[in-house]
Amino acid sequence: MIVRKTPTELEKMRRSGLLVWQILEDLKKIVQPGATTYDLERAAERMIADAGARAAFKGYYVPAAGKHYNFVLCTSVNSEIIHGLPSTKRVLREGDIVSIDTGVCLDGYFGDSATTVPVGRISDATQRLLRVTQEALDLAVDKARAGNRLFDISGAVQQHVESHGYSVVREFVGHGIGTKLHEDPQIPNYVDPKSGNPRLKEGMVLAIEPMVCAGKPETQVLADRWTAVTKDGSNSAHFEHCVALTSNGPWILTKP
Ligand code: MF3
Ligand code: CO
Repeated sequence: MIVRKTPTELEKMRRSGLLVWQILEDLKKIVQPGATTYDLERAAERMIADAGARAAFKGYYVPAAGKHYNFVLCTSVNSEIIHGLPSTKRVLREGDIVSIDTGVCLDGYFGDSATTVPVGRISDATQRLLRVTQEALDLAVDKARAGNRLFDISGAVQQHVESHGYSVVREFVGHGIGTKLHEDPQIPNYVDPKSGNPRLKEGMVLAIEPMVCAGKPETQVLADRWTAVTKDGSNSAHFEHCVALTSNGPWILTKP
């Protein structure tokens, strides 16, 4: 069941969304060669506490892993697609890319967003991967309109990504969001005839999150049971926004 939100609820989700945006903006400034992914975790933890919010990921039970997640961030470097675990041992190097994903809960409503940022100077090829993934998200957000269908979103991502020679991950998807971090519907980044294709309605809030591989789409989960990586070792990028469907069109809650 897809829960639709009232304007009052959307205002609450806006506050969570803007907090997540602010956290990611501040974290981007810490990303540089020599920083560790745990430096990001520590800073984010402080920002969430200072805002009087609750971290959405920390303590979240993930059935596929069979355990609770233990960090406020996912930090996924290079061929890591999502769910990379912040670590004092993971030092960022010039030329890397790091996906930073975080969520918060304020006043009972969740916000969730991710971005992938360069570490120092990166190659033109890697820059292009980031640009195309960001563009895929922007195109998908524009399809988040009442009257469209879910596959308009999925298809927009897939078409843009594949027309640039990249591939979209199949095993992980976007999601509805509200009083829970993960609500219906699941939002695949490709058109999957086996999954549902509901009509989109005003008041829905969708966390759209393209995960794009420079090479093949096959994924593998590491022995830590969290970190999802590309099987072929190619780089991967991930961007995510929460979008509310309003009578005025898409409203990106996780961006001012
Ligand atoms: N943004 C991701 C998601 O929406 C991150 C979840 S990490 C988890 O699913 F550990 F909290 F599950
Ligand atoms: Co999400």
